[in-house]
Amino acid sequence: MTIKNPTQNIHAFITGVSSGIGRALAEMMLDQGMQVSGMARRREALKSLEDQYDQFFGITGDVADSQAVANAVEQAEKRFGDINQAICNAGIYIPQSDLNIDPTLFRQQMEINYLGQVNVLAALLPLMEARQSGHIVLISSVAGWRGLPLAASYGPTKAASISLAESLYFLCRQKNIKLQVICPGFVDTEATAQNTFRMPMLMTPPQAAKAIIKGMRSSRFMISFPFMFALCLKILRIMPHSWYFWLTKRITGQQ
Ligand SMILES: NC(=O)c1ccc[n+]([C@@H]2O[C@H](COP(=O)([O-])OP(=O)(O)OC[C@H]3O[C@@H](n4cnc5c(N)ncnc54)[C@H](OP(=O)(O)O)[C@@H]3O)[C@@H](O)[C@H]2O)c1
Repeated sequence: MTIKNPTQNIHAFITGVSSGIGRALAEMMLDQGMQVSGMARRREALKSLEDQYDQFFGITGDVADSQAVANAVEQAEKRFGDINQAICNAGIYIPQSDLNIDPTLFRQQMEINYLGQVNVLAALLPLMEARQSGHIVLISSVAGWRGLPLAASYGPTKAASISLAESLYFLCRQKNIKLQVICPGFVDTEATAQNTFRMPMLMTPPQAAKAIIKGMRSSRFMISFPFMFALCLKILRIMPHSWYFWLTKRITGQQ
């Protein structure tokens, strides 16, 4: 008797596969026997994954462009059939270290981090609704839980993803579509390489990818990690503002 690998028939669509968490996720899922379609802007990085894996299909495009995302979903389904899982991971992080508010940078992050996820939902939800099955994961962040120093422009994009997922949860459930939101702590990637402060409990991208894949197999709506870091931030999340600001000042050294 041959034992069937349960991941073999899964087609996953992942945005932001050219580096960091998205790339680690794509590699881990491909190693588990899944078919992966991945979207990002850097063609060379997609090509290197295509060279490494037959079961990978790279699509060059910008998630902020709704038509490009719709086309990517269409091409992906033509290549590997119905998308069973989608991970909306593409994102950028621009630290805000002073009071010079540049609306262009705020808008850019909202268009990629938040509306990029909306664009994937717009392309995929009607297909999954018609099939009455599917699994969508939005990559948010613990930075979406409370305002953090340096995250004035980034944090709101992640808070928006959490609110989006919580609001759509009910409608998705009615149509047998599993919707989850992921809130990682610090992961060592190109995005966080800009940080000049010490990042507590920093994880590698493969460690983050492993935690995400484990979380996706669970029935939990929100997956946050690493455990101790997420627990500390959950406690900070329910604190009154005066305590929260005092403690955050002590921890981060912000005045
Ligand atoms: N690293 C952390 O500590 C951390 C913590 C919590 C949450 N997150 C979230 O995790 C996700 C991945 O971040 P990362 O840390 O792995 O950063 P990263 O290494 O910089 O990867 C970001 C990925 O998103 C893609 N991307 C960016 N803008 C895009 C666009 N307009 N269209 C298509 N793809 C785009 C990038 O590809 P191209 O440049 O090739 O387009 C790249 O593949 C983000 O949503 C981030 O907010 C990260």
